[in-house]
Order: sequence, then structure tokens, then C-alpha cells
Amino acid sequence: MPAENIVAVCGATGRQGGAVARSLLRSGWKVRALTRRPDRESARALGRLGADVVRSDMDDPSSLRRAFEGAQAIFSVQNGLISGFEREVAQGRNVADVAKEVGARHLVYASAGTGERGTGIPSWEAKLEVEEHMKRLDLPFTSLRPRAFMELMTDKGYYPAVGTWRIWPPLTGEDRPIPWLAVDDVGVIAQTVLAQPEVYIGQDLPLAGDVRSLRECRALYREIMGKDPRTFPMPMWLFDRFTKRDVIPMWRWLRMGTVSTDTGATRAIHPQALTVRDWLVGVRDQGQALVH
Ligand SMILES: NC(=O)c1ccc[n+]([C@@H]2O[C@H](COP(=O)([O-])OP(=O)(O)OC[C@H]3O[C@@H](n4cnc5c(N)ncnc54)[C@H](OP(=O)(O)O)[C@@H]3O)[C@@H](O)[C@H]2O)c1
Repeated sequence: MPAENIVAVCGATGRQGGAVARSLLRSGWKVRALTRRPDRESARALGRLGADVVRSDMDDPSSLRRAFEGAQAIFSVQNGLISGFEREVAQGRNVADVAKEVGARHLVYASAGTGERGTGIPSWEAKLEVEEHMKRLDLPFTSLRPRAFMELMTDKGYYPAVGTWRIWPPLTGEDRPIPWLAVDDVGVIAQTVLAQPEVYIGQDLPLAGDVRSLRECRALYREIMGKDPRTFPMPMWLFDRFTKRDVIPMWRWLRMGTVSTDTGATRAIHPQALTVRDWLVGVRDQGQALVH
């Protein structure tokens, strides 16, 4: 692996950025891990793994300039559920602008959705705006487009008990096929993509390790965990407010909308991408859901 190559990883203390940083470090890359709070435990943990942890705020281009200087590649991720979707776009554009300024050779962008306009889903439309901006800049980039993270079934940070098991099924329907990917697999895939810029620049990669309906997922959960997923009631309007009027429209859209259910392209990049069964067994045996 090109050990002299530095990758600046945005959102490194988060799910996707953390997975990418760890995967790159395992493969011998130099990682600059960006965070607003280098003192937080998740940032220190990356430092112990060998990352260079740097303070940076995606709202502040000058801090990005310092963080990206000398980096050959950038991993870009924003979270509109934290920042709001206008700021998600602004941050994504800031990262792209500064990547262009410093002459980064490759940017891997954590996208989502179908890649097509008009769904009306704020987090998907925000990413299309950022991608259009990157195209206008003629930036060499690859879009990773995972659909649902398997962590939605288990990670407490996602309110899985109420969201995934109670609110999602009536909106999308129990039997619609959902493309799933484990977040750690985003890390492996990003590392593979960064290692072969000549292959992946310009590509838009829909990602799924498995395709399962919510009914199938519940049955697997029951079989592997030996119990039903626990749920508790929450009014739809309250969940809608917590999730910034993004997740409920998305789950409603999935009832009728068409998403790619192909896992072949993902397996071509990462043959060991987890299935839902593998993921749940890992959570049961190693407590993977508690990692984040
Ligand atoms: N849930 C799903 O199934 C799913 C599927 C596909 C795509 N997505 C997309 O995934 C994205 C979220 O990714 P994630 O789960 O990895 O996010 P995450 O775990 O919330 O991590 C985001 C990180 O960004 C950093 N951050 C936040 N504001 C910042 C700022 N102003 N400047 C610099 N850093 C900042 C935070 O680090 P510090 O606090 O340390 O600075 C945080 O650790 C969303 O855009 C969502 O649409 C989600």
C-alpha cells in the first residue's frame, strides 16, 4: 500500500469515517483523522491506532485547508441529521472546494439514495447537490452509495427498537426488499477504492452486502438473538421531529420507489461483505453494535 500517501478522513470519530480510518490504518496507509474535538475518546482511540488526529470543522474552510494540506486523498462524509440539510450541503461543498484547492488526487464521497433527483428526501437531495458541485469543480471523485446500514437494526444511537422495528414496517411494508450494508464494509470498500484511483474515479457505486425484507430481518433477529427485537411505542410525529423530517419520508418512499437490489457489484469489490445473518451473529458474539 502507498505508505507515503496521506488520506484525510472527515467524520473520523463517526460511523463511516471511523470505519474508513480503521480500514486504511490496517492496510498501512497514513491517516489524518479530522474531528472538532481531538480530546474525545473516539479520537484518542484513532490516535492509538496510529492516526494523526487533527482539529477541523467542516463549517470552517481554513481549518480544512490546514487538515488537507499534503493529503493525496480525502474521505468526505457529512450528517444532515446532526447539522441540518442546508449545512450538510455547505459542508460537503467546503470539503470539495478545499480538496480542489490543495490538489487532492482523489475524493471518496459518502453518498446515499438512488442518485436521481426528485425523491424529495432531504438527505438524498443534499448529497446530489454536493455531487453536482464536485462535478462542476471537475474533482476526481468516487461516490459510495450505501442504502440501509445494518446498524439500524442494533445500534442504540439509531433508536433501532422504535425506528427500525416499529415505525419503519408500516411505512415501507414488511415485504419490500431492502439493500443492507454493514458500516465496517464501507471502510473496506473505501480503502479498496482509494487504492485503485485509476479504476474508481468517476464511478458511482450502489452498495449492498445483502437484500432482505424487514420481515426476513425480524425472523433472522429472532433466530440468532433468541428473542424478538424489543420495541416501545413512540408517536410518529415525535420520531419525525427527532429525525428532521427525513427518515419517515424516506421509508414512505421505499414502499413504491425503485432501488437497486444488486449485491454483485459490491461483492466484486469486497467479496466478504457481511450478510444480515453474518452481521447479527457478529453482534450477538462480539457486541459489534456497541462499538460506535
Ligand atoms: N443510516 C443509514 O442507514 C445511512 C445509509 C446510507 C447513508 N447514510 C448517510 O450517512 C451519513 C452519516 O454518516 P455517519 O453515520 O458516519 O455519521 P456520524 O456517525 O454521525 O459521524 C459524523 C461525524 O462528523 C463529524 N462532524 C459533525 N459535524 C462536523 C463539522 N461541522 N465539522 C467536522 N466534523 C463534523 C462528527 O465528528 P466530531 O464530533 O468528532 O467532530 C461525527 O463523528 C449521513 O449523511 C446519512 O445520510 C446513512
